[in-house]
Amino acid sequence: MSKVRTRDLSFELRAGETLLDGLERTGHAVEYQCRSGYCGACRTALVNGAVRYQQEPLAFVASGEVLPCCCRPEGEVQLDVPLVTLKKQA
Ligand code: FES
Repeated sequence: MSKVRTRDLSFELRAGETLLDGLERTGHAVEYQCRSGYCGACRTALVNGAVRYQQEPLAFVASGEVLPCCCRPEGEVQLDVPLVTLKKQA
């Protein structure tokens, strides 16, 4: 099991989940389009730790960034991702 820490909480990634799956399940705000490493829309800042890609992504990934749609953490990781904030109804 891999522990994931974000700006607001910590959770365990489930077997078979990508990092994006786990972030969505726990209510985080992550953009995405292709979910397979092509577009780069899910690019996220990695604060600590390392990830492994199921397949080398085609989208550019700078040092200190990850594409959560197509990777799993190697051990504990920390990401700079906020929770989804709900707008209050007037
Ligand atoms: S959603 Fe396209 S690279 Fe992650």
